[in-house]
Amino acid sequence: MKVAFGLLLLLLCLCGAQGESGGLGEVGESSKLQEEWTQQNPNATAPDIWAELKELRDMVVELKVHVKILQGDYSEVERRLSSSEWELLDTKKRIDQLENLSAANTKVAFYTALTDAGYVGPYTTDTTLKYSKVFTNIGNAYDAATGFFKAPVKGAYYFQFTVCGHHTGLMGVYVYKNNQRIMFNVEWKEAQQYKYFTNSVVLELMAGDKIHLALPATHALYDDGSNQSTFSGALLFPL
Ligand SMILES: *[C@@H]1O[C@H](CO)[C@@H](O)[C@H](O)[C@H]1NC(C)=O
Ligand SMILES: *[C@@H]1O[C@H](CO)[C@@H](O)[C@H](O)[C@H]1NC(C)=O
Ligand SMILES: *[C@@H]1O[C@H](CO)[C@@H](O)[C@H](O)[C@H]1NC(C)=O
Repeated sequence: MKVAFGLLLLLLCLCGAQGESGGLGEVGESSKLQEEWTQQNPNATAPDIWAELKELRDMVVELKVHVKILQGDYSEVERRLSSSEWELLDTKKRIDQLENLSAANTKVAFYTALTDAGYVGPYTTDTTLKYSKVFTNIGNAYDAATGFFKAPVKGAYYFQFTVCGHHTGLMGVYVYKNNQRIMFNVEWKEAQQYKYFTNSVVLELMAGDKIHLALPATHALYDDGSNQSTFSGALLFPL
């Protein structure tokens, strides 16, 4: 401690002297300063400044090495932190996806019947069938206002329809996936009598894909309070 204090004083002297002498590079110069210092502090032992400086330099070198090591450690810590951050983000995304597959989205089942009104058609153009009697609509994927079913998640879906005809002539139905017709079923009836056909499909749908049925131009269907023309479907399992 004493030595360090002396050294500090010496350094102060050196700095003060620097202005006049223009540096402390010369050994003669600092020996003179050391002498001065001894005169001013007769009772103190003059420190060996070169030894002290060397010791200090060694300390600085050692400190530098430590700082380098610490810096290395820090960048490793930084790297690990940022990779953990990515892992967290990735996990969050997967949780979001799983949440999307959670109960609310994967309980999908509907059952509807066409109308109580009797004859539907024939019309001069293809007409979307709006099954207006909605008996089951778990998950609300079927929209009675438009007649469209919209898949809430990617998955395998099962659809079934039964078509009833009661007039003389053509009865039939188109099945559409988005704007693409994927099925056409038809019957010709010679006389006015009840006739039915049923068909089903299993479709792999993406979230947002839409399914609807349409009545072909010149064809007619029939339904009344007895629920004779029906359309139903369900998500079998998500994919
Ligand atoms: C140095 O020591 C002497 C005798 O021990 C004392 O009389 C004197 O005051 C001291 N000088 C200083 C500057 O401390
Ligand atoms: C979850 O579902 C919503 C709505 O269906 C959709 O907008 C979102 O992109 C989905 N998120 C993921 C991670 O799949
Ligand atoms: C038509 O279906 C609904 C719902 O299941 C039912 O309440 C009604 O009694 C059915 N009509 C006939 C005639 O079965």
